[in-house]
Amino acid sequence: MSKSINIAIAGIGNCTSSLIQGLFYYKDVKGEKELIPGLMHNLISGYKISDIKVVAAFDIDVRKVGKDLSEAIFALPNNTKVFCKDIPKMGVKVKMGPVLDGVAPHMKEYPEDKRFVVSKEKPVDVAEELKKSGAEILMNYLPVGSQKAVEYYANCCLKAGMAFCNCMPVFIVSDKEWAEKFEKKGLPCLGDDVKSMLGATILHRTLMRLFVERGVIVDRSYQLNCGGNTDFLNMLSRERLKSKKISKTESVESQLFKRLSYDNLHIGPSDWVPWLKDKKLCFLRIEGRKFGNVSINLEARLEVEDSPNSAGCVVDAIRLLKISLDRKISGPLVSASAYLTKHPPAQFPDYIARKMVEEFIAGKRER
Ligand SMILES: NC(=O)c1ccc[n+]([C@@H]2O[C@H](COP(=O)([O-])OP(=O)(O)OC[C@H]3O[C@@H](n4cnc5c(N)ncnc54)[C@H](O)[C@@H]3O)[C@@H](O)[C@H]2O)c1
Repeated sequence: MSKSINIAIAGIGNCTSSLIQGLFYYKDVKGEKELIPGLMHNLISGYKISDIKVVAAFDIDVRKVGKDLSEAIFALPNNTKVFCKDIPKMGVKVKMGPVLDGVAPHMKEYPEDKRFVVSKEKPVDVAEELKKSGAEILMNYLPVGSQKAVEYYANCCLKAGMAFCNCMPVFIVSDKEWAEKFEKKGLPCLGDDVKSMLGATILHRTLMRLFVERGVIVDRSYQLNCGGNTDFLNMLSRERLKSKKISKTESVESQLFKRLSYDNLHIGPSDWVPWLKDKKLCFLRIEGRKFGNVSINLEARLEVEDSPNSAGCVVDAIRLLKISLDRKISGPLVSASAYLTKHPPAQFPDYIARKMVEEFIAGKRER
């Protein structure tokens, strides 16, 4: 059982930037008991955040390909908050991946500092690079709507014999056929679409659950989100949005006893506001009926830096995949996916999913 956790990353955007900054920001965390702001687990089965080592990285942007990862994470169009600026040279060069459907055509209409700019470098053979790198886990951080590109990376992961962590909403871990491919190869996978530590999804799910558990009927709800990063710019293309909308809507609806009709539940990214940068605004409203069929309405506004919010979950996802590799578990990690992602193979209320994860860590659940 090796003590370091070697990961490869596809997509060196804002989420990767926050993750890597976090690896250095939390480098001295060693103890189990200390209360550390921003962490759900200091240690997981003895694994520290500083045990995570990035050994390979792939992107397609001319400002990132060929650079050391320590520089690429701060290159435009990344615009997330820098909370750890002194990142030493990591000795990992960002390699050119195949573009496929990773870049939305509408991006060309926007200024270069706000959008992806494709490098002219020849793409590498990702499966070969993964094999050479010694990575054990591939993190997928590609843009929403990159169906072909995500399938390409998932296949490379299978060829290279690595675990897969799907942080975005192309359905792999929650898709029966893909899940079987990982199971057959004896490889664990976790996904799909990371749920933030405290973001719009978990807030909306928790409030919906509160209505339901207090006997209040939910009649209508919306969740409108705005942001100024490339994730929101990419999602201005409605054709790319299908799976993100399913992922977010099913995550919230799963907390109700009865699904709402299409007309009565609206969840989605709503606009791109460049000056917000990586700040996300979420406006949500729930309308219901309580005792005596009398109405109750709730409005909430959440303002949150988007990418560190996902990294807080991902540092746990990586360590949960590592203990699954140590335990030779294959296929979807049911409890970790339910707790840490929006579109897992099976949904559970968050407090139950959390308990399941603790049981998994303690070795009391198989997956
Ligand atoms: N921010 C969050 O809290 C959060 C939460 C859940 C899910 N997600 C999802 O995670 C994904 C990553 O988010 P982000 O904010 O880092 O996005 P981002 O736009 O900042 O980064 C995406 C990166 O992928 C690169 N890319 C595009 N096509 C590629 C290809 N074919 N091969 C390799 N790289 C390619 C881009 O150049 C860019 O660097 C998105 O799909 C997003 O919806 C984000």
